[in-house]
Amino acid sequence: MTTARPWPLGVEGIAYGGDYNPEQWPREVRREDVELMREAGVNLVSVAIFAWATLEPREGEYDFGWLDEVMDDLAEAGIKVALATATASPPPWLTSRHPEILPVTEDGTVLGQGGRQAYAVSSPLLREYALRMTRVMAERYGEHPALALWHVDNELGCHVPHDFSDHAALAFRGWLQRRYGSIEELNHAWGTAFWSQRYDSFEEILPPRAAPTYANPTQQLDFARFSSDELLTHYRALRDVLREITPQVPITTNLMLSSATKWMDYFSWADDLDLVANDHYLIAAEPRGQIELALAADLSRGVAGGDPWILMEHSTSAVNWQPRNRAKGRGEMLRNSLSHVARGADGIMFFQWRQSRAGAEKFHSAMVPHAGRDTDVWRGTLALGRALEALAPVRGSRVLSRVAIVMDYPSWWASELDSHPTQALRYSEELLRWYTAFWDLGIGVDMVPAGTDVTGYELVLAPTLYTVGEQDAERLAEAARAGSQVVITFFSGIVDENEHVYLGGYPGAFRDLLGVRTEEFHPLLEGEVHHLDDGTGADLWSEKTHLEGAEVVRSWADGPLHGWPAVTRHAVGEGAAWYVAARPSAEGLEALVGEIVAAAGVEPAVPGLHRDVEAVRRFAEDGTTYLFVLNHSDRDQVVQVNGRELLTGTEADGAFTVHAGAVAVIQES
Ligand code: GLA
Repeated sequence: MTTARPWPLGVEGIAYGGDYNPEQWPREVRREDVELMREAGVNLVSVAIFAWATLEPREGEYDFGWLDEVMDDLAEAGIKVALATATASPPPWLTSRHPEILPVTEDGTVLGQGGRQAYAVSSPLLREYALRMTRVMAERYGEHPALALWHVDNELGCHVPHDFSDHAALAFRGWLQRRYGSIEELNHAWGTAFWSQRYDSFEEILPPRAAPTYANPTQQLDFARFSSDELLTHYRALRDVLREITPQVPITTNLMLSSATKWMDYFSWADDLDLVANDHYLIAAEPRGQIELALAADLSRGVAGGDPWILMEHSTSAVNWQPRNRAKGRGEMLRNSLSHVARGADGIMFFQWRQSRAGAEKFHSAMVPHAGRDTDVWRGTLALGRALEALAPVRGSRVLSRVAIVMDYPSWWASELDSHPTQALRYSEELLRWYTAFWDLGIGVDMVPAGTDVTGYELVLAPTLYTVGEQDAERLAEAARAGSQVVITFFSGIVDENEHVYLGGYPGAFRDLLGVRTEEFHPLLEGEVHHLDDGTGADLWSEKTHLEGAEVVRSWADGPLHGWPAVTRHAVGEGAAWYVAARPSAEGLEALVGEIVAAAGVEPAVPGLHRDVEAVRRFAEDGTTYLFVLNHSDRDQVVQVNGRELLTGTEADGAFTVHAGAVAVIQES
């Protein structure tokens, strides 16, 4: 099966492996590593991510012996390498000689050496050193038989999404000049007539550093846009060197798509990645963390434009950076892994291969744990290897959904700015609440960026699409006219790309589509809950909305807006546009989503399953379908299905039982 995006060279079937940091171990352990990798069925490892200081211990002096040996050993064992540019953490000799490359926080604090990622991404000198290291790596290993994929830097922006240094100030000015052309245009866009903020030249502009009160909102939004672009610019610079020297080798970097990663607009990065790679860590304290995991996986597929992608990192068991680091329970690692595969991942990898003895991540689980081979973690590593081998035929198949959720990073940034009607709104929380309602109904969704042509979807949801241009707003109207049920939630369509309010009543960009006009917001106070006329509660938000063509679906049954509409529906062309001007409780939301799903005529992948049983289908080009059933519940689930179960090689003929905690993948007949 051919995939639309390039695939790591020479990796057969599903990619399996993890970050491999041999610089932390002596030769005899490295020998054992290769044996164990073969035993586990590992076929791809990410190497040299944090190896800069080991590879170049002093400026211009290189020590490649150990890495040559590692690459040769892996090649001989048939294990492929996602080789890093080794630039993720500048060595101490560099930061002590050139402290001007260090990043600076909003309040002027310089972030020092001793952790990792201590660099200002806009620093020209840092760029120069990073380009040189990248070139050295590409020239040395470009022809190596183990090389399958380039791994640029590591989790760009992970610790320092925003740098406020003088380098950043300079680059920000250049970015603004390109965006606006003239200072007059910038003054207009930023609304600088307010609070005496008029700029006379670009030289006067700074990043939104700590200020006496609210910084200009458009400045804040533009700085967020700039910072995401600047990280991408760094990626591109390193990528271009690799492409020049090894045009045949695909290139990627590991993204951090989840409901928690706010600051990188990954949709805008997608075209620059040959293959989309994501790192995802389960929120261990969350009893139904598998739902957020699924959201992250669907988002990874969305960034990949529907193409297969790889999970570059997750954990076999506990991590070391959450407040309390729960170890995974029985079957959980396999379920986590195969949920990613179900949602389009063609590779499953971990941080990391062997658990470190020293350093800040020694209590982070790995494929080979401290306790060695007589452990559930190692047995889990072996079992996952066998499972992925059995799933080789799935590679390249795709997930097809009839529901789209519009996800927009600038709206995330801007909707949570200070000086707003409420400080309690969390974009990602809204996204996850709606996503959960679809999950509970067993309905799969695609995550798409604003501006996507969504006319093919039966149902399109835009949660808190606060910042929206007229053209992007029009995309949703087109979908409704063409027959979709379009759902827009509160605090959407409020401002344009420059953060200027659409006048004439909220939500200005969607007023006509929704057939409503809001005259004033009535955010709820902390702990305040009012009721809708279906008897369920709602908190956080309400607004005084007039009907201008729409009909009422739910109204307020009490509170200051008693009798006013809370949810409306407007018939538009072949479809309809729903406005959810409230935040219903989980129960109320599920009922509402149920009604909208019924109006759209969308069915779950498998009807009638327990809510903690996840069912997703992948479709191959030749018409074969693979049904993934992941039982996160504590009771067995019977599924009506015919075909062959790939993990066990058994026949499914009619009623097939997926045991509590287990996973089945059925090639359907
Ligand atoms: C990130 C990094 C890894 C490691 C893990 C730990 O994903 O890329 O180097 O720190 O987190 O969870």
